Amino acid sequence: MQLIDGKAISAQMKNEIAEEVAKIKSAGGKTPHLAAVLVGHDGGSETYVAAKVRTCEEVGFKSSLIRFEDNVSEEELLACVDKLNKDADVDGFIVQLPLPKHISEQKVIEAIDYRKDVDGFHPINVGRMSIGLPCFVSATPAGIIELLKRYGIPTQGKHCVVLGRSNIVGKPVATLMMQKGYPGDATVTVCHSRTPNIKEVCQSADIIIAALGVPEFLKGDMVKDGVVVIDVGTTRVPSADTKSGFRLKGDVAFDEVAVKASFITPVPGGVGPMTIISLMRNTLLAGKKEIYK
Ligand code: GUN
Repeated sequence: MQLIDGKAISAQMKNEIAEEVAKIKSAGGKTPHLAAVLVGHDGGSETYVAAKVRTCEEVGFKSSLIRFEDNVSEEELLACVDKLNKDADVDGFIVQLPLPKHISEQKVIEAIDYRKDVDGFHPINVGRMSIGLPCFVSATPAGIIELLKRYGIPTQGKHCVVLGRSNIVGKPVATLMMQKGYPGDATVTVCHSRTPNIKEVCQSADIIIAALGVPEFLKGDMVKDGVVVIDVGTTRVPSADTKSGFRLKGDVAFDEVAVKASFITPVPGGVGPMTIISLMRNTLLAGKKEIYK
């Protein structure tokens, strides 16, 4: 069994991005600029946005953080999106989700100029990805694909089972795995809460991407020998052993599955660290106008 080390790969990618930014700057080019919009004080969102801003500094990007209180109106937030769309210095921006209930997330996402949508959530980017056109691919699916690539894991003709059908992981990663060319060309099955025979489907899988959000859902008796397992789960469970009072649990019963797997991602330290670095890569592509002119 080989552990897929997302922490190491993301550190390697961070160095690669930083080197490229340094080159751009020394050639007199524009410093890539990511803006993040944060509404309210949700603990998880605060942590994620702080990490995004910190990583921007580490790779040499410019970053801006725009904060609103929970009671911001949809109108005010949309006006901010419009301003960022028009700001020539901002290459890409994100509106951290979730948003308060009185604001339509879909309306906000669709208001973002798709050419600056480094989260890859805009329907134009999602649509372009689904037909294999250049686009911003959202961070978690892009991170998973990068891990498969960097470990040279064969995908052509393999049976890839995706557990979960969310818009931000399950659906896009299933699309990418069936795309023409490496690391796609897989035969993909998507299972979800209404799939009756998940165990049997998983037992025939060469690759399993678990993104259900159900801690330790995938058990040892559900997988065959040699399976490749990508665990996207990050459920917070209470823990007396950590300072924060919780720890992250994946969707995979790691010890049982790892003994049968050829490759497996740990939680934490697998897919998680890849998401922020994928956002940084999208921001670099936005800065270089590599996808959209
Ligand atoms: N909330 C949780 N993950 C994400 C993400 O990748 N992007 C945004 N904008 N919000 C999130």
